[in-house]
Amino acid sequence: MGRERRISNSSGLGPEGRRGSQLQGSREARARLSSMSKSTMRGSFDVSTFLDEKDLNIEAKTFRDIFPVASGPDSEETTSKFLYAIVEILLDFINQTNDRDGPVLDFHHPSQITKAMDFTLPEQGLDLEQLVVDCRTALRYQVKTGHPHFFNQLSQGLDIVSMAGEWLAATANANMFTYEIAPVFIMMEHTVLLKMREVLGWEEGDSILAPGGSISNMYAVIIARHKQFPKHKQQGMRSIPAQLICYTSKHSHYSLKGAASTVGLGLDNCREVPVDSRGRMDPSSLRKIIEEDKSNGFLPFFVNCTAGTTVIGAFDPINAIADICEEHGIWLHIDAAWGGGLLMSKTHRPARFAGVERANSLTWNPHKLMGTLLQCSTFHLREKGILADCNTMEARYLFQQDKHYDVSYDTGDKVIQCGRHNDIFKFWLQWRAKGTSGFEFQMDRIMELTQYQMRRMREMPEKFYIIVDDPEMVNVCFWYVPERLREVEHSQERMQDLGKVTAELKSRMMYAGNLMIGYQPLDDKPNFFRSIISNQACSEEDIDFMLEELDRLGIDL
Ligand SMILES: Cc1ncc(COP(=O)(O)O)c(C=O)c1O
Repeated sequence: MGRERRISNSSGLGPEGRRGSQLQGSREARARLSSMSKSTMRGSFDVSTFLDEKDLNIEAKTFRDIFPVASGPDSEETTSKFLYAIVEILLDFINQTNDRDGPVLDFHHPSQITKAMDFTLPEQGLDLEQLVVDCRTALRYQVKTGHPHFFNQLSQGLDIVSMAGEWLAATANANMFTYEIAPVFIMMEHTVLLKMREVLGWEEGDSILAPGGSISNMYAVIIARHKQFPKHKQQGMRSIPAQLICYTSKHSHYSLKGAASTVGLGLDNCREVPVDSRGRMDPSSLRKIIEEDKSNGFLPFFVNCTAGTTVIGAFDPINAIADICEEHGIWLHIDAAWGGGLLMSKTHRPARFAGVERANSLTWNPHKLMGTLLQCSTFHLREKGILADCNTMEARYLFQQDKHYDVSYDTGDKVIQCGRHNDIFKFWLQWRAKGTSGFEFQMDRIMELTQYQMRRMREMPEKFYIIVDDPEMVNVCFWYVPERLREVEHSQERMQDLGKVTAELKSRMMYAGNLMIGYQPLDDKPNFFRSIISNQACSEEDIDFMLEELDRLGIDL
C-alpha cells in the first residue's frame, strides 16, 4: 500500500483531494504572507515568480518528492531544485548582510512578529514552495549579525569560508564522539587543538571543543576539583573534607558563578575579587581573601583569571595571579573566551598573555574575536590524561576498547556530553584559508580599528564621553552626550541622565534598524554603550557611520 493511500485513509480524502486541500492551504498561507510583505515588510516576496525566474519549478512538490523519502532521477532533480532555492535565499541574505546601505535589522515586537510570520506547526505538512517562503521569511526578520554596522555582540561577522565549513558539517551530520563515525573531523580536531596548544606553549596537554565558553569554564572547575579530590567522582561531595572556594574577578563572566552553582559549590562559595580602575583583578585582594578563607578552614582550590573581560575587555595580570596560585597550591584557569584571539598577535600578545604557560587550563572561543561561526569554543589543559580521567564513564556500547583502530581517538568518553556537534570543520577550513599569519593580520586590524574609533571619539569630546580611556581590546565603553547635556558639568546626576539617554537611544537605534550597539550598567555606572569590533568587514568608514548615526538619532534626547 502506497504512502499516499495510507494518509488519504486517515484524512478521509483521496490522494488528489488531500493534496488539493494541502495546496490550497499553503497557497493561502503564501497569499497571507505576501500581503503582509506589502503592508508590513520592506519589499515583497512572490515565491512563484522567484522560483520561475531561477528555473526552479517545485510547484505541488512535498517532502515525499525529495530525498530521503523519494529516490530516483526525478527526486534527485526536485531535491536539487529545492536546495538551489534555499541557496538563493542564503546568498540573498549574505548579499544583504554585506550591503552597507541596507538595514541591520527590521525590529518587530514579539506580538508583531507572530503576526508577520506563521510559526504554527500544521497537522498536515506543507509543500516545498511554502518551506521556501518560510526560510525566506525567517531570514527576513533575523538580525544581520555580519553587517558592518552590527557592533552589538562579541560574536559578529559572517566569515564565508567558515560558513562554507558549517554548511558542509551540517551535510555530513556527523556525531563527534567516535573516530568510527567521524574519522576526518576527529583528525581535524586533533590537529587544530594541538596547534592551539602549540600557540599557548603547552604541546603536551589535552583539549576539547565544548558547546560554548560557559561550559568550557565549567569543565575547568570540575577538573580542578578532580585533580585535588579524585574520590569525588565516585563518592561525591562527602569525599571533600571542607568547603571548596573558587575565586574570580568582579568583572568576570557570569558563567563562573554559574559553574559554581551547577557543580554544587554554591554561589556563596564563589568569591568576587575586586578590580582596579581598569577592570583588572587586584592580586593583593585575591591573596588577602584566600588567606582569610584558609584561616577560616575553607579550601581554596580554583582561581579564574580573565583574559578579556566581557564589558571592558580587561586582562587580569596572569603572572601575579599565578604566583599566588602556586604559593597556595590552587588551580589557575584562564578564561580567554573573549581575548584568546590576541594570542595570535605578536604585537598584542606579550602585554596581555605574559605567564599564560603557567596556567592549568584555558578557555578560548574562536567564535568570538576570530570570527569563526557560532559555535566554536575550545578548552585546553596543560596536563595530559586528566580530562579523560575525570569524565570517562566507560560506556562500552559506544567506546568499545577492542575496536580495530587506536581508540584514543574516540574523544566522546572525555566529555560530559555524549554526542557532540561538529564545530571543527568551519574553524579548520577558515584557518587553512587564512593561515596563521592571516589570523594575526585580522587581530591586528581590528585592534587598529579600535584605536581609530578612540581617536575619532576623542576628537568629539562634547558628543562622546569615554569611560575606559585606553582599551586593551576592541571593547569601547562610552556615553553618547545629547545636545542638552553638552554644557552641563559632569556629576552623578548627569551620569544618571546619560544612562537614561543610552537606553532611549538604543531603542531609537533598533527601530531605525541601521546600527546596533549593546549597552549595560557596570559597578556604579548606569547604562553605557559598549561597542565591539570583531567583524572583518568593519572599516574606518563604518566607524564613522556609527558615530554619525548615534549623533543623528540621539542629538535631541
Ligand atoms: C569572558 C567570557 N567568558 C565566557 C563567556 C561565555 O561564552 P559562551 O557565550 O560561548 O558560553 C563569555 C561570553 O560573552 C565571555 O565574554
